[in-house]
Amino acid sequence: MRKPLVAGNWKMNGLKSALEEINLMEIAGDAVSDKVDVMICPPATLIQAVRQRVRRTTVGAQDCHVKESGAHTGDLSAEMLVDAGASAIIVGHSERRQDHGETDDLVRAKASAAIRAGALAIICVGETREIREAGRAEEVVLSQVAGSLPREAGANDIVIAYEPVWAIGTGLTPTPDDVADMHSAIRTHLLNHYGTTGENVRIVYGGSVKPGNAAELMAVDHVDGALVGGASLKADDFAAIFSVYRDIA
Ligand code: PGA
Repeated sequence: MRKPLVAGNWKMNGLKSALEEINLMEIAGDAVSDKVDVMICPPATLIQAVRQRVRRTTVGAQDCHVKESGAHTGDLSAEMLVDAGASAIIVGHSERRQDHGETDDLVRAKASAAIRAGALAIICVGETREIREAGRAEEVVLSQVAGSLPREAGANDIVIAYEPVWAIGTGLTPTPDDVADMHSAIRTHLLNHYGTTGENVRIVYGGSVKPGNAAELMAVDHVDGALVGGASLKADDFAAIFSVYRDIA
């Protein structure tokens, strides 16, 4: 059985004053920790401080460099992020793909780096609005999955986050049927890639997950949790999202 994962991606938000929210999230997360894994991905500047405040909640990073160390001013290696307290690293978020021109090849190398450092690689994929309107969403997303998945990754080393680009930060979401279709297409791909252990890979949904739509989205077949942006910044909202698992599983 896959234990769902609800991860909060704080993106480029959060000063030390935001740590108060962490305490509240941790208390709420404790109450459902047998049903769902809760994770916070703060900016790298807060990883260590967050790690020190949580017990059950895990901490993730939002990106990493492919190399272990070296002359790469301003970059952070997966090893450094793990050293600071991260046990997972998001790679290939659409904001990285768009803002920094990250390709599937680079995302695959970053996922490999995360795994090399002993972290879970949360690999993000998702289509743009144009691609969906052209009827090519599944083809494009499956090609991102194929291109971004490191050959050596085991089923327990990775999480796939399906995040339609047009749903991120917009308040728009695909219908539960569209989410079901995409997640089951990704599952089929993983089963072809891994054999039966492909069943163990968690496929989470991301893009405008809010307290008001979380129960409906999380109940969809093959949706094993969520990657939450804006709504993860406030403890009340984030807790309302991961707490839907109290009633689901
Ligand atoms: P959002 O972001 O929940 O604010 O839409 C999701 C994400 O980018 O991971």
